[in-house]
Amino acid sequence: MCGIIGAVTDEDAQKSLLDALRRMEYRGYDSAGVCLREQGRLHCRKEAGKLANLEQSLDKKPLSGHAGIGHTRWATHGGPSRENAHPHLADGVAVVHNGIIENHEILRQALTADGVAFRSETDSEVIPWLLSAALAAGGKSTGMDVAWQQTVDQLQGAYAMVALTAADDCLWFARRGSPLLLGRSKHGIYAASDALALAGLADEVLYLEEGDIGRISRSDAVIFQDGVQVQRDWQAIPLAEQAAGKDGFDHFMQKEIFEQPRVIADILSAYVKHGVGERPDIVFPAAPLLDTAPLPNRIVMVACGTSYHAALTARYWLERYLQVSVEVDVASEYRYRNPVIGPDTWLITLSQSGETADTLEALRLFKSNTPDNLALTLCNVPESSLARESDGTIALLAGTEVGVASTKAYTAQLAVLALLVLKIAYQNGVMNEADTKRHLTAMRQVVDGMHVLLSQADRLQALTPLFEDIHGALFLGRGPCFPLALEGALKLKEISYLHAEGYAAGEMKHGPIALIDAKLPVVVLAARKYHLQKVLSNLREVQARGAKVILLTDMRDEDIPDNVNAVIRLPEGDSFTTPLFAAIPLQFLAYYVARARGTDVDQPRNLAKSVTVE
Ligand code: M6R
Repeated sequence: MCGIIGAVTDEDAQKSLLDALRRMEYRGYDSAGVCLREQGRLHCRKEAGKLANLEQSLDKKPLSGHAGIGHTRWATHGGPSRENAHPHLADGVAVVHNGIIENHEILRQALTADGVAFRSETDSEVIPWLLSAALAAGGKSTGMDVAWQQTVDQLQGAYAMVALTAADDCLWFARRGSPLLLGRSKHGIYAASDALALAGLADEVLYLEEGDIGRISRSDAVIFQDGVQVQRDWQAIPLAEQAAGKDGFDHFMQKEIFEQPRVIADILSAYVKHGVGERPDIVFPAAPLLDTAPLPNRIVMVACGTSYHAALTARYWLERYLQVSVEVDVASEYRYRNPVIGPDTWLITLSQSGETADTLEALRLFKSNTPDNLALTLCNVPESSLARESDGTIALLAGTEVGVASTKAYTAQLAVLALLVLKIAYQNGVMNEADTKRHLTAMRQVVDGMHVLLSQADRLQALTPLFEDIHGALFLGRGPCFPLALEGALKLKEISYLHAEGYAAGEMKHGPIALIDAKLPVVVLAARKYHLQKVLSNLREVQARGAKVILLTDMRDEDIPDNVNAVIRLPEGDSFTTPLFAAIPLQFLAYYVARARGTDVDQPRNLAKSVTVE
């Protein structure tokens, strides 16, 4: 969602803030702003639109100072405009905020009755006004620490926020429900919503806990929890946060698609320990409980978006190989539907960012209801809130994913889930050694198979005319490829803005078939391992109604049905690896269609990389 940065430094604070905002722009990009303190006055600059607009404005007329705050916004309350951009100011204080202040309307009414004239439509603007009121009421005797605490005490909802005053060379921060961390270097101390923002600014980071509140100066950080001063550990900035360039690719999404063989190789070398001929040994170091835990009675998987699609595919594997009952839900539904959890149940949350608000709340609900149950997370950011609050974490090892459309984190989730199933199955004696090794060998072949698929990028690009002058697109699959159909449709819609639907192929006759005509291209996922004949008969039904068909398949040439408009060959895989192969052409298809339509591939409209509000 939005990105926050605060800096108290002996360097040029404007430069530090802009560097950090640039690294966070993928989180929210509808407006941006900075506020700096110079000689006891606050100077603010905000612009609607991309960060480049703010940069141009600051190029023309720079601000100076050594303490400042900055923000890149993803609109929730109030449209993307200069007025609604952060920082928000009130009588000598300025605040940047991520999250949602749920009681903002009541607070706004009370403040308006006291004579405050609000300048924006945002929920966030109540914060500086509450702060300035608390400062005015307390006078110099109580000071900012007390006024900040009084402000925070009045807020309901989620926040990560940083405040700057005209009077002080410090920044004040608070975190509840939205991520916030501190960074430090020999030049100063920083607060940010994202470790990536601090790459290049800080050498060490400190992850704030829920409810932490405090202040930073150029050389010191003071943190309170429930009114008591606490010490938290500084740690080296995660290496993954150091690099975030496009490395010669046109887009981050394109670069991240091409990184997938390397990610799978990293996952295998990190988690699979056996040499040729030895017993399979799959080890997840940050989830040691898995080495001894017996098979649970039930597994619940909760996630959002693409991560949810990875969970749906894993359900087929878990039920088939472990014979355990598996429930998969989107986090925004799970957390509100009063789920019956019961004993002997594992929760597995999946998340690229580890900060998705609904997924985090689903975990908290699960833990508060049944603290003895195991809660695991598969997450790409091992320092994230989800990882820190779970009983065990399996890092996805995908490296920083910048493109809003998730690609390499998705295939990393599939690969890690496959290893997780193999580990539990072998450990509990439900899969024998020979079968486990056979599947691990197939997993190793994914790296080469993905390289082959990547070499076919041009063929996928050549299919973009099939997506011109259409009223939508349909993706069909069965078994573990059904969630791939959902994912293919999500990828296409989020970056090309074409309407697309993913369906279980067997469900097509129950409604979507009415949409089929010559202007609805249909992508059919037909894998030999998953009900091939049934999928082919669905394909014929689609063709009979005049649709253009793009077939993704590992079938032999001689078996390929006539008259399909395009065939994309997948390497032959097993039940675990076929979805990993199918993901790549689906990603390319979305990427090239979006490019052809001239959309902003890495920063599609209305979206943000990490959804930290519900
Ligand atoms: O960080 P998470 O994996 O928890 O994010 C979940 C979704 O917001 C995310 O997958 C979203 O659907 C992506 N834009 C998909 O490409």
